[in-house]
Amino acid sequence: MEQINIYEGEQVISRILVQDGVEGLEECLEQYEHVYAVMDENVAMKCYAAGTIADMLNRRGVPGMLVEVSEETKCMETVMDICGWLLENGADRDAMVLAIGGGITTDMVGFAASIYKRGVRFAYVPTTLLAQVDASIGGKTGVNIAGYKNMLGTIRQPEFTYICPQVLESLPMEDFQAGAAEMLKTFIIEDNGNYEKAITLLKALTEDFIRLCDGATLSDGEARWPEALADRLQDLTPLIAAAAGVKAGVVSRDQFEDGERRKLNLGHTFGHAIEYLSHKRHNDIDHGHAVALGMVYAADLAEKLELAEPGFAASLEHDLDATLLLIYNPYSIHDMAEAMRKDKKAENGKVHFVLPRAIGDVVMHDLTVDEVVELLK
Ligand SMILES: NC(=O)c1ccc[n+]([C@@H]2O[C@H](COP(=O)([O-])OP(=O)(O)OC[C@H]3O[C@@H](n4cnc5c(N)ncnc54)[C@H](O)[C@@H]3O)[C@@H](O)[C@H]2O)c1
Repeated sequence: MEQINIYEGEQVISRILVQDGVEGLEECLEQYEHVYAVMDENVAMKCYAAGTIADMLNRRGVPGMLVEVSEETKCMETVMDICGWLLENGADRDAMVLAIGGGITTDMVGFAASIYKRGVRFAYVPTTLLAQVDASIGGKTGVNIAGYKNMLGTIRQPEFTYICPQVLESLPMEDFQAGAAEMLKTFIIEDNGNYEKAITLLKALTEDFIRLCDGATLSDGEARWPEALADRLQDLTPLIAAAAGVKAGVVSRDQFEDGERRKLNLGHTFGHAIEYLSHKRHNDIDHGHAVALGMVYAADLAEKLELAEPGFAASLEHDLDATLLLIYNPYSIHDMAEAMRKDKKAENGKVHFVLPRAIGDVVMHDLTVDEVVELLK
């Protein structure tokens, strides 16, 4: 088992455990007398490894609750349901709430636990790649309100995050890609040689998948994704651990996002604009593809500002294309500018951009939306 710590000063405030297999989870729970488990109902149905976890929890007499997961159900009502269920089941101040699911589950359950009886302990078993490399690390919890994402929430650290790659076996391709984009983003921020390794692995996975799809219809092809992924999970584990380690380091240095933690928004200002437009116009560009496009725009902007070498954006574009992460963006820079003007992070007319100068080297740069349009049109 690999252990990565999150620190506040000298003190360990959260542990990330990366382990092959779900069996080690039982040992992690041993020190907690009153455990309550909340699992994504989709995960309970589709993920074999989650079934093994559920069996272990049942054997230990841990009360369990299933939640329906979507950006619509990621709201206060579900948080109230979780808190109500904890109350009905007699959860006290010594309770330990375990969330098993993707980022929506960990965000909601973490939030519920952080306000229930003024805060009880909680831990995560993230079941999506995005949650393993990003959402389950760093202590941000939250829910949506009135169509605005993550507007209500807390920063409170889980006791531990138990990362086990086997749970990804049943993850649909689109959700895997969202995590892959976040993992690459992490390595563009801090490399240590992992960006190249991740691109090589994702390319190999893409080639396996294309080979398995040969001659199949589109839906048949998608059904072969888990087969392609299963063969590469072992090689993915050290990269998940490395990405989790980078995020843990950033959070240890800037838990409350006063500075460095903002770097984790690389690709997200353009990415959110693309997701917003796509949602409004029913084009359905998902998060992973939007972030991948966003990172290429950020690289292009860095080049135009002479922060990055000429050709950097093209080489990033080439890498992302080879891993199936890049798709056609139907929106003009003017469309995206309108969406960016609505970005909650705009301050005094300026938007905070995270710009890559090279792989492993990003800087923060404030620009007005008009300046961005002028540079990228
Ligand atoms: N707290 C943070 O720091 C942070 C960071 C990034 C993202 N987020 C949040 O995370 C959320 C996105 O996370 P996500 O992509 O994990 O979404 P998610 O939880 O919705 O999971 C994506 C989909 O995959 C399904 N699923 C999950 N695990 C599965 C498995 N093993 N097998 C089969 N299906 C599975 C889910 O039911 C869902 O349909 C967003 O709401 C975002 O705001 C939070």
